[in-house]
Amino acid sequence: METRVFTENTAENIEAAAAIIRAGGLLGIPTETVYGLGANALNADAVLHIFEAKGRPQDNPLIIHVPDETWLERYCHDVPETAYTLAAAFWPGPLTMILPRKPIVPLRTTGGLETVGVRCPNHPVTLAVIQAAGVPVAAPSGNLSGRPSPTSASDMLEDMDGRIDAIFDGGPSGVGVESSVIDLTVTPPRLLRAGGLPLEALQSILGEVIVDKCITEPVAPGEKPKAPGMKYRHYAPKAPVTVICGGAAASAAYIRAHAQPGDGVICFSEFAASFPAQRVHDLGPVDNKLAQAQRVFDALRTFDATDVPRIFAQCPDEAGLGLAVANRLKKAAGFDVVTV
Ligand code: TXA
Ligand code: MG
Repeated sequence: METRVFTENTAENIEAAAAIIRAGGLLGIPTETVYGLGANALNADAVLHIFEAKGRPQDNPLIIHVPDETWLERYCHDVPETAYTLAAAFWPGPLTMILPRKPIVPLRTTGGLETVGVRCPNHPVTLAVIQAAGVPVAAPSGNLSGRPSPTSASDMLEDMDGRIDAIFDGGPSGVGVESSVIDLTVTPPRLLRAGGLPLEALQSILGEVIVDKCITEPVAPGEKPKAPGMKYRHYAPKAPVTVICGGAAASAAYIRAHAQPGDGVICFSEFAASFPAQRVHDLGPVDNKLAQAQRVFDALRTFDATDVPRIFAQCPDEAGLGLAVANRLKKAAGFDVVTV
């Protein structure tokens, strides 16, 4: 199939993109976190095509995208007041809420679960497409299963050209890591994926939040994580990755002592000149977690296109977006983590 590319945010293009969704097709959608692989969430056949195009295991549920919180009650029951408080504070934005599913949402969409993840993305194109389509859009990240999430239309086309009907190029994703996923069906609420909305922001509204251990530790063989997606090895570059946690100067010194010429290094800007014999990808300044979030997938994708034999990565501390950046690096490393 030939994949069409929409670039201009015009009424005509929005309508053409919405028509693809209504017809049961596959559409690459820009969001502020990462690009998504979208289809009509209420159409089980269309949703099956998402799983096929990505090569995604069918027990890994999709999240649905809505234009505002008034759609929550169409697709979820027993919506707690806190969901509306969170929506008022953080939607549109990088937050996915897990809530009880109404039967109108097919089990194929939810990977067989009685709950569904709902998010209102902060991107004018995608909000307009969902409104025009009149249905929620199911969308996982737009990468082939196991590849880093795409943060631009060209990244997504690398994986999906010829597999989807169209992609809407809405520019680079401003946040760069996927949404934070919070389970509101349990008390206290549980963070299932650290993402573009910092834990501290959730705590400011919810008070106590349990951080699921799959965010910071490897999933043990046979263990069933609450977010099924966390059990799969995501973001795995071709070369083995080692993540170095600890102070920035100490982690840089560790990498200087252990990296061979020709290895890849993902490091903070302050240390970019410290590895002349290695291939360096600058993650952004130590104190700029947003820059790090924007660059982390690009770093992993870039090294995939090279033949570096190993990759060493400096790990940010866990404050703010650091928790999400650290999680993506550790997952890419299969939790091969050294603390200095
Ligand atoms: O930022 C994002 O969330 C992007 C953009 C496109 O919106 N989407 C995204 O989707 O990252 P995906 O499918 O790659 O990640 C969704 C995560 C997976 O780990 C999945 O297992 C989990 O959320 N999830 C989805 N529905 C769930 C549910 N009902 N219960 C528990 N976990 C769920
Ligand atoms: Mg994904």
